[in-house]
Amino acid sequence: MSINWKAAQNYEELSKLAADIFEQQLQENEKSVLGLATGGTPEGLYSELVQRYNDGKISFEKATSFNLDEYVGLSADHPASYHYFMDTHLFHKVNMRRDSIHLPSGDAEDLQAIAEAYDKKIEASGGIDLQLLGIGVNGHIGFNEPGSSFEASTNIIKLTDSTREQNKIYFDSIVDVPSYAITMGIKTIMQAKKIVLLIAGSDKQGAIDHLSSGIITEDFPASILHKHTDVTIIYTGVEKKN
Ligand code: F6R
Repeated sequence: MSINWKAAQNYEELSKLAADIFEQQLQENEKSVLGLATGGTPEGLYSELVQRYNDGKISFEKATSFNLDEYVGLSADHPASYHYFMDTHLFHKVNMRRDSIHLPSGDAEDLQAIAEAYDKKIEASGGIDLQLLGIGVNGHIGFNEPGSSFEASTNIIKLTDSTREQNKIYFDSIVDVPSYAITMGIKTIMQAKKIVLLIAGSDKQGAIDHLSSGIITEDFPASILHKHTDVTIIYTGVEKKN
């Protein structure tokens, strides 16, 4: 099956369309295993999910989550860490059980062991039912930068200058942006049963052009999504030309 492309009128609609997919997933299976992403793009989705939880439409009580990635060297209470982001935008606001929440630890001594254990935990949970993704201007998904192997499981990766530049808004200055991250690998991501990718904003025009060209290459990691059987891409603020 090819990618299901959905154009949203604006960011608010993109967030609502994405929330509809999560709502449906949780309604079909309250024990869903959710793969979650951070960054600017999903903020609207998370506030929509919090709203729907407050309205009694969805519950996270029996759900499990696995986040895509974390910066190496940042502790969970660092304001730019992805642990902190998730607590702020979602986990502290809904009824997710603490022991059902998983993020790779970025400040552990043995990161390799953390990476290996992460994949095993995902497997033991029954696998990810619905994986949320954003995309980097260079085509990264998770922190799988261009050139990453499509066969990689969770691993430690050196961030490109472009990614560090893109993410410096969350730090005092570029020198504070970590150089490494721990990320679910492409193979791990592709094992999710269903994937939803959100693309918002004109700086992602190059990324959507590349994706819609259909060319699959490790130089543009998100291109692997063409090989998945259940991917929805919701986009706004960019043009899909073909
Ligand atoms: C975040 C992640 C990244 C982001 C991507 C886009 O957990 O894995 O791949 O999704 O860098 O970030 P934003 O949404 O800030 O443009």
